Amino acid sequence: MCGIVGFVGADASNRSVQVALQGLGRLEYRGYDSAGVATIGSDGTIHVVKKAGRLTNVVDALAKHPLPESSLAIGHTRWATHGGPTDQNAHPHLSFDGRVALVHNGIIENADELASELADRGIALASETDTETAVHHLALELAKDDDLLAAMCRLARKLRGSFTLVAIDRDNPNHLVAARRNSPLVVGLGEGENYVGSDVSAFVDETRDALELEQDTAVDVYSDHVVIVDFDGNPTQGHPFTVDWSVDAAVKDGYSTFMEKEIREEPTAVLETLRGRLGTDGKLRLDSSSISEDVFRRIDKIIVVACGTAAYAGYVAKYAIEHWCRIPVEVELAHEFRYRDPVVNEKTLVVAISQSGETMDTIMAIRHAREQGSKVLAIVNTHGSSIAREADAVLYTHAGPEIAVASTKAFVAQIAACYLLGLYLAELRGNKYVDEVADYLDELNKMPERIQKVLEQEPRITALAEELKDKDGFLFLGRHVGYPVALEAALKCKEVSYVHAEGYAAGELKHGPIALIEEGLPVFFIVPTPRRPELHAKVLSNVQEVRARGAHVIVIAEEGDDSVEEFAHQVFRVPLSTPTLMMPLVTVAPLQLFALRLAQAKGLDVDKPRNLAKSVTVE
Ligand code: M6R
Repeated sequence: MCGIVGFVGADASNRSVQVALQGLGRLEYRGYDSAGVATIGSDGTIHVVKKAGRLTNVVDALAKHPLPESSLAIGHTRWATHGGPTDQNAHPHLSFDGRVALVHNGIIENADELASELADRGIALASETDTETAVHHLALELAKDDDLLAAMCRLARKLRGSFTLVAIDRDNPNHLVAARRNSPLVVGLGEGENYVGSDVSAFVDETRDALELEQDTAVDVYSDHVVIVDFDGNPTQGHPFTVDWSVDAAVKDGYSTFMEKEIREEPTAVLETLRGRLGTDGKLRLDSSSISEDVFRRIDKIIVVACGTAAYAGYVAKYAIEHWCRIPVEVELAHEFRYRDPVVNEKTLVVAISQSGETMDTIMAIRHAREQGSKVLAIVNTHGSSIAREADAVLYTHAGPEIAVASTKAFVAQIAACYLLGLYLAELRGNKYVDEVADYLDELNKMPERIQKVLEQEPRITALAEELKDKDGFLFLGRHVGYPVALEAALKCKEVSYVHAEGYAAGELKHGPIALIEEGLPVFFIVPTPRRPELHAKVLSNVQEVRARGAHVIVIAEEGDDSVEEFAHQVFRVPLSTPTLMMPLVTVAPLQLFALRLAQAKGLDVDKPRNLAKSVTVE
């Protein structure tokens, strides 16, 4: 996920760069590993300043060497997906002939094909990004008719994947062109000047009049008008709206907290993590790997090392990978791992899961595993992070930056990545045929829509949190893959609501926790699908046991599972036919929302809970 801004004014001035920098500052929440701006000077050349690291590096560079006055500017703040966070990989990218500069948000899935077409023409790539293939192809298209809008449409038709693109043309310095597919882009309409941005925070200081663009549209932006077309060049229209958020809220896309925004982004986080994983050979792809297929075939054990929420994603991985690959999977809290002298060797695959990629406990576990001869595969959200660098193979989650301390969208993205790893190994080791893997992937691809549906129950969840806000204890119970979800739900409540909450395997109830049940205690159940009668019946018995003892019973159950109605005070539904192993992706969302609303009902600072830090870089 990256942030994009563009500005077109009537006259050349310093204002263009200032507006772009201001917009980038507001968009930095979308990504902050590198940034850059580009303008066209009166000398008819494109000037680019781009730097790895925070936007301040660009600001400092511009203070020393200002860009020339210009009537337009484009800018980008990056969250790396292809290629690490370096100056070279930062945007804007310049075309081979210096005519076009381009910024991009998204993932171009056919970048390899585009790169080989460029190689055939003798055009070499200067960066490791997918974006650079687009800028060279745009320049090739532009050379055909000198029409940037038409060239952008032809390029967009060639691209697979998701993209917002914004480009400027050295030879036509009075306009910019942008295009979008599966990636956000809004247009800001000012007085004698216009803007584009990934969201309205890019220009909300300048104007509140905006246009939303349809999927698969391109826009030609001049200082006094804009032209919108579909990718075949047919005129179309944007949807006008007025921004009524404060600047502060705009950074959060109108949500009051980052945590809520990030929960709402879960469908996209899963979608982006799954995107582009199937190679042209029909096989699954990792992002980088120095582990040979032979080594993957020989491993006889997997140990997942992680902390907190990431470790709970690891528990879900255990159920899926053991079932699909028939390899034993252990899940170990990273800080416990190396101090207990674990049995690991060259036949052990250690899977490190981390959102930040900087958790010191996990880094130390990785180092210990590698010293023992194990290979390490990292599932990480942050490109160029320490864990990604130290691992032998990496599978990135594409959840985008997670700002709230409580991990939410990263959790579902990690689970999605674990499924991909399981399917990759199952196929490689011959446990599943390619068509079976394709069937599982089809199901996985339905999950973003299913999560979206679950999130629609938010008003009832808010009402429940309001009703239960004065309770000081909560119990979460689940079985099979519902168990890690129960653990995660309890962690979320503790973390942001400061209440005592316990997560248990439902089968454990009779071994102790049932003593906690008293009149009115809120007990949440994650009920398995009735299509697994052996699991379903056992959990339903637990529901009855706690209800009989006076608990306030809240149930997450599949649509159409009427058996729970009789015993539950509230029922939240997850879509029918979700495969059992994939259930955590839909059952966790209502519980995350509940923790959020409970904290808000208590008037707490949801995004920055007391005593916690987003990235735990000490042991
Ligand atoms: O960045 P990581 O995923 O390695 O962080 C691991 C834990 O510190 C993290 O998941 C923590 O438990 C979250 N605050 C939970 O919401």
